[in-house]
Amino acid sequence: MDPVAVVGTALWAMLPAYVPNNVAVLTGGGRPIDGGRTWGGRRVLGDGKTWRGTAAGTLAGVALALGLNAVADAAGTAFGVTPPTFPVIAALGLSLGAMCGDIGASFLKRRTGRERGAPFPGVDQLDFVVGALVLATLLDFGWVADTFTLPVLAVVLVTTPLLHVLTNAIAYVLRFKDKPW
Ligand code: CTP
Ligand code: MG
Repeated sequence: MDPVAVVGTALWAMLPAYVPNNVAVLTGGGRPIDGGRTWGGRRVLGDGKTWRGTAAGTLAGVALALGLNAVADAAGTAFGVTPPTFPVIAALGLSLGAMCGDIGASFLKRRTGRERGAPFPGVDQLDFVVGALVLATLLDFGWVADTFTLPVLAVVLVTTPLLHVLTNAIAYVLRFKDKPW
């Protein structure tokens, strides 16, 4: 695959994992997942992880994947590279996995004494990628193995932190987020 195709495939395949966290920022609120419970004197997850944000983010990721499937042929004709299509189970893995990775990071943040919204460099930028790839692999190993070849995976791991920093900075400037990370 030529480099342009590798980058295009990487971004296309990860879109259903990128969108859930941003949708959660816009839709979050209501009952926190941990129900306010604490562990070791600190919240298990904190008020920043809610059922509503998680559900809306996950659904948005799956819906986006189905939307991408619908335009994949047209994109292939336009750009000369046919993008991957998403089996529903793989879409769910990417989307729910991204949310779970972010939730896992909050768990680690609270255990390491970081307050809600505190930055955790490295973890904040990659938690959702790891979660997405792990859950997608568990749910649809064949699709992940076919789609995320080593070059594609390398592009994902390098560009995702950059995209994350950029989208969060934009969300902060537009006042959707209180903190720019
Ligand atoms: N959000 C949500 N449910 C999730 C993830 C995010 O409702 N599963 C919403 C919350 O309103 C949250 C906002 O999106 O405050 C920003 O998400 P994030 O930066 O991940 O959470 P923080 O508030 O920074 O908390 P933490 O320190 O636990 O990451
Ligand atoms: Mg945060």
